[in-house]
Amino acid sequence: MNPTPAFSLADVSFRYPEAVALDGLHLSIPPGECLAVLGANGSGKSTLLRVLAGLCFPERGEVAFFGNPLTEQTLQREAFARHFRRRVGVIFQNPDVQLFNATVFDEIAFGPLQMEWPKAEIVERVHAALADFGIEALKDRPPHRLSGGEKKRVALASVLVLDPDVLLLDEPTAALDPQSQGHVIDFLFGCLGKKTVITTTHSLEVAQEIADRCLVLENGRTAAVGPAAEILQDTALLERTHLVHVHRHRHPSGAVHSHPHRHY
Ligand SMILES: Nc1ncnc2c1ncn2[C@@H]1O[C@H](COP(=O)(O)OP(=O)(O)OP(=O)(O)O)[C@@H](O)[C@H]1O
Ligand SMILES: [Mg+2]
Repeated sequence: MNPTPAFSLADVSFRYPEAVALDGLHLSIPPGECLAVLGANGSGKSTLLRVLAGLCFPERGEVAFFGNPLTEQTLQREAFARHFRRRVGVIFQNPDVQLFNATVFDEIAFGPLQMEWPKAEIVERVHAALADFGIEALKDRPPHRLSGGEKKRVALASVLVLDPDVLLLDEPTAALDPQSQGHVIDFLFGCLGKKTVITTTHSLEVAQEIADRCLVLENGRTAAVGPAAEILQDTALLERTHLVHVHRHRHPSGAVHSHPHRHY
């Protein structure tokens, strides 16, 4: 028998006043899966993550978390909301929206304090998270006055310190330098099979390295969903959905020409 999906979406649609962002999505994500959500700018990736995070609610269709309906009403029940927020870690595309403490240390300690962990454990875990993301030197700085990549690392540390078993990550490697990207990919690699990870990315390299399956969105609809190896080889699909670029480039021979190309 298949396990209860971590998330299931049935015919989910969501619109902003200006635009339809999700349009009749069906999706089932088994626990322990790593799903990469791909798609052009504006295709609905961040909106899908917000719906999964219980931060916006579809105008039509149903979302369930381990079989429990995820709605405004169910999240008003304190026990369910606490359970859901405890298990699900969310990284936003723009870290500014999730950093609000006076120092980096306080930012990372915030979640553990809410969980009422023993003080000594909080201090220990915060230091471990600072070390994991190479941000020890920033611990006394105000998060809102860091560089974009530093903020992203603080946001990642502040969520991962809680060790959630479901991760919703909106472009977790965007804005990071190659070494920090490597750390995040390594971390996600270590999560494979243990945590449920849903990550958006514009990097086919990241998708290839960590995803079990890929979902490609196009105008809020599923353009394709399937094993990562299959989706990432479908050049026509990737070109149509803006996931490979065509531009002039130079080959080592000096020849300059234009065709879809990938950097791995
Ligand atoms: N806060 C908002 N208010 C109104 N419309 C929005 C808002 N956020 C997104 N949209 C619209 O909803 C659609 C989906 O946007 P979404 O942010 O989900 O796309 P995305 O795939 O995450 O794009 P990107 O790759 O640029 O991050 C787009 O048409 C966008 O213009
Ligand atoms: Mg987005």
